[in-house]
Amino acid sequence: MFKQRHIVITGGSSGLGLALAGRLLDKGARVTLVARQRARLESAQCSLIAARPSAVVEIEALDVTDAAATRSGMDAIAARTEGIDGLINCAGILREGYFETLTDNDFREVMEVNYFGPLNATRAALPHLVASNNNGTSTGAPTAWLINIASVAGLTGVFGYTPYCASKHALVGLTESLYYELSPRGIRVQLACPGEFDSPMVDQLEQGRTPENRAQTLSIPKASVDAIGDDIMAGLAQGDFLIVPTRKARLATLGMRLLPSLSRRLMRRTVERVYQGPDDGLQRQIG
Ligand SMILES: NC(=O)c1ccc[n+]([C@@H]2O[C@H](COP(=O)([O-])OP(=O)(O)OC[C@H]3O[C@@H](n4cnc5c(N)ncnc54)[C@H](OP(=O)(O)O)[C@@H]3O)[C@@H](O)[C@H]2O)c1
Repeated sequence: MFKQRHIVITGGSSGLGLALAGRLLDKGARVTLVARQRARLESAQCSLIAARPSAVVEIEALDVTDAAATRSGMDAIAARTEGIDGLINCAGILREGYFETLTDNDFREVMEVNYFGPLNATRAALPHLVASNNNGTSTGAPTAWLINIASVAGLTGVFGYTPYCASKHALVGLTESLYYELSPRGIRVQLACPGEFDSPMVDQLEQGRTPENRAQTLSIPKASVDAIGDDIMAGLAQGDFLIVPTRKARLATLGMRLLPSLSRRLMRRTVERVYQGPDDGLQRQIG
């Protein structure tokens, strides 16, 4: 379904964005990777092409929190590659710590990248996605996609993730509403909510996360980025709106939805078993 399609991936230079880029290329897509640091983009581009010499991989260095730069960057990408058929909003950052030790700036930064970033990129790509759909086939298959990467932390609260959960819940709400607005225009809107997986973001988190966060988050076992990438690709092919990668995360989120009080009580007990609290005055800043 992605053959010859051109997909833009924000956060495509690392972690899940890079894993999805490889999988889309294997399905015959062309990709453009977007992130801030050009050197990391170039290295990602080289690694993708080294494994697939005929792959078409473009890069664009931009900061998705800058609405004007994102608009002109997306127009430049579309002009260079004859349109945009899909956008994957995967760029994200994490700040973990006790609520009292996180700063207003932590909350603003996380919201800027994880919520306003996808918002800016979606606004900028939308005219191109609409044009892609208008140029598409009449077989009923979608020819344009918007795929937002939120998190299990967008479906529930998590100790230590007050800024991150707020930003991912906002992204989930945005995506739920865009589903109704963009589906009638032939744009397939999908939302992926992974649990924790191995990535540079988590490597940094491990350098100083609260024990309560570790206990709660890892009640869903950490997955590999490959397992998450495979499950997201399967969900995209099936056309599911909500994709929760890995069976264990699907069971856990089902429990949260069907038995919210029990699920909350169990999580609270998990946190209380290791509780230390903010008294050590440490501020943990990751990302
Ligand atoms: N890892 C997990 O356990 C986990 C779990 C659930 C959900 N997620 C979500 O999955 C997504 C990918 O996470 P990951 O772990 O793969 O992260 P990662 O390896 O840290 O990659 C983050 C990517 O986002 C880019 N980025 C960050 N800020 C940006 C900005 N302002 N503008 C443009 N690009 C920006 C980074 O490149 P530059 O720094 O060069 O800009 C990098 O390419 C995120 O949205 C994350 O919240 C992750």
